[in-house]
Amino acid sequence: METVSFTEMKQGTQADYLLLDRYEQEHTASVAERLLKALSQLRHGLAGYQIDRLQHSLQSATRAEQDGADKEWIAAALIHDIGDDLAPMNHSEFAAAIIKPYVREEVHWVVAHHGVFQMAYYAHHLGKDPDARERYRDHPFYESCVRFCERWDQPSFDPDYPTRSLEDFAPLVRDVFAKPLM
Ligand SMILES: [Fe+2]
Ligand SMILES: [Fe+2]
Repeated sequence: METVSFTEMKQGTQADYLLLDRYEQEHTASVAERLLKALSQLRHGLAGYQIDRLQHSLQSATRAEQDGADKEWIAAALIHDIGDDLAPMNHSEFAAAIIKPYVREEVHWVVAHHGVFQMAYYAHHLGKDPDARERYRDHPFYESCVRFCERWDQPSFDPDYPTRSLEDFAPLVRDVFAKPLM
C-alpha cells in the first residue's frame, strides 16, 4: 500500500494529504460493513436478560418495521444499543454520534435520549428517578422518544417474538449508512 512521506503531520505535502483523503473516502464508504460487524459482536454483551443484546437490537428494529416506520427509524432501532460494550456509562450518546450524519435531527435526538427515557420503566426499582425524562417535556421530540421506547425498545426482550435476522437488515444498513445527508 502506498504511504505518506512524513513522520510528523506538519511535514506533509499536498500529495500526501490527497493520498490520505482518497484512503479516508474508501474507509468512510465501508462504515456499514463495520457497523454490521459491531452489531454481531453484541451477541457477547450484557448478561442477565432472556435474550442477548443483538437479539434485542434486531427485535427493536423488527418492531419498528412492523409499525411501518421509515428506514431511518429502523436503523436507529437497530443500532441504539451499539455502545453498550464500549460506552456503558453513556451508550445513548455513543449510538447517536454514529447515526447523526445519516438521519434527520428527530431520529438523532431520540437515539441520544432513549436511555433517560427508558428509565421510566425501571429506575424506581433502583432508587433512581423514573421521571428524569420530564425535563424534556416541552421538547418537540419528547413524544417521539416516548413512542420509540414504548413501542420498540422496552418490549424487545421477548425470546418468543418473531425477530428478523441481521442478514435481513444488512441491505437497509448499507442504504442508510451509504453517505451522509449533508
Ligand atoms: Fe439503550
Ligand atoms: Fe435498548
